[in-house]
Amino acid sequence: MVTEKSVEPFRGPIPESGSRHPLLPTPYRVVKRVVETDTVVTLFLEALEGGNLTFRPGQFNMLTAFGVGEIAVSISGDPLDGGPIRHTIASVGAVSHALCSLRVGSLVGVRGPFGNGWDLTGVTGMAGSATQDVVVVAGGVGLAPLRPAVLELLKMKEEGRGRVVVLIGSRSPDQVLFKEELDVWRTRGAHVEVTVDRADASWRGSVGVVTSLISSAPFDPHDAFSLVCGPEVMMRFTARALLDKGMHEDKIQLSLERNMQCGIGWCGHCQLGPYLLCRDGPVFPYGGRLAELLAKREL
Ligand SMILES: Cc1cc2nc3c(=O)[nH]c(=O)nc-3n(C[C@H](O)[C@H](O)[C@H](O)COP(=O)(O)OP(=O)(O)OC[C@H]3O[C@@H](n4cnc5c(N)ncnc54)[C@H](O)[C@@H]3O)c2cc1C
Ligand code: FES
Repeated sequence: MVTEKSVEPFRGPIPESGSRHPLLPTPYRVVKRVVETDTVVTLFLEALEGGNLTFRPGQFNMLTAFGVGEIAVSISGDPLDGGPIRHTIASVGAVSHALCSLRVGSLVGVRGPFGNGWDLTGVTGMAGSATQDVVVVAGGVGLAPLRPAVLELLKMKEEGRGRVVVLIGSRSPDQVLFKEELDVWRTRGAHVEVTVDRADASWRGSVGVVTSLISSAPFDPHDAFSLVCGPEVMMRFTARALLDKGMHEDKIQLSLERNMQCGIGWCGHCQLGPYLLCRDGPVFPYGGRLAELLAKREL
């Protein structure tokens, strides 16, 4: 995670990354496909060449749907799992639709992992002794990049380090991601609350925006940090609600999305003010210049 940095000149030499050219996708095969909702699918991918991809929670890959295009997608799996790499994708346009439509056995191109990921040192502390509470706030498919962090946080919590509070906002009950898993998180000690914009007859939970859950959520705002991912407007309101409750702006981390192309800090497509999101983010602290930058529309 960074605080301030100037954007380097674009289009210099392509940064080296191991033996493979960083712009060349590695072929992976879809080994499992889970339909999460009517518009969201999780793909489990295995490299044709074998070997596991190691990543940190909050990092993303560039996924190619061959013949259609390439998009940024966060990794939604458990970093300690070591199995197929997992991506949870909402079908919103041509490339995401092509990826969501792939069947088991299909090939996908993968470049990555890229980006910095969530900073969880508030939980571990430099000496591994801190006990801060963590508030995870997700809107819609924003829960996907947060899932690896929740899984890591639950392991830390089992070692007695602070509370894990997970607040989820969804458009409707049928759009809630990872439904069965939420109870597992609860039994492992997390405080998980879900709210929906529009309830149906079966819904017994909260109705309203996710920020409405923050004021009564069980955490100490003066000794907690927060991980937030969702639509940008939701993240802005969430950050404000956390600030209102007393959390310091540097303790609030947001994962941002911009149009990505190279993913390696070379093309400049993902620039936001002084930052390149693929290189300096996608996770940023709300403090510093982020609040001001988020008020501006993406070009
Ligand atoms: C770092 C990062 C991580 C991401 N992780 C995930 C993830 O885990 N799961 C997932 O489903 N999506 C994720 N996305 C968003 C995903 O990259 C976009 O949905 C995708 O680029 C859309 O491409 P498309 O060709 O399907 O649709 P397009 O035709 O390009 O766009 C369809 C609609 O989506 C909007 N859109 C396009 N790109 C983005 C974007 N980057 N952010 C927000 N809106 C966009 C367009 O304005 C348009 O309204 C991530 C994006 C970034 C930058
Ligand atoms: S600089 Fe190319 S996507 Fe970030």
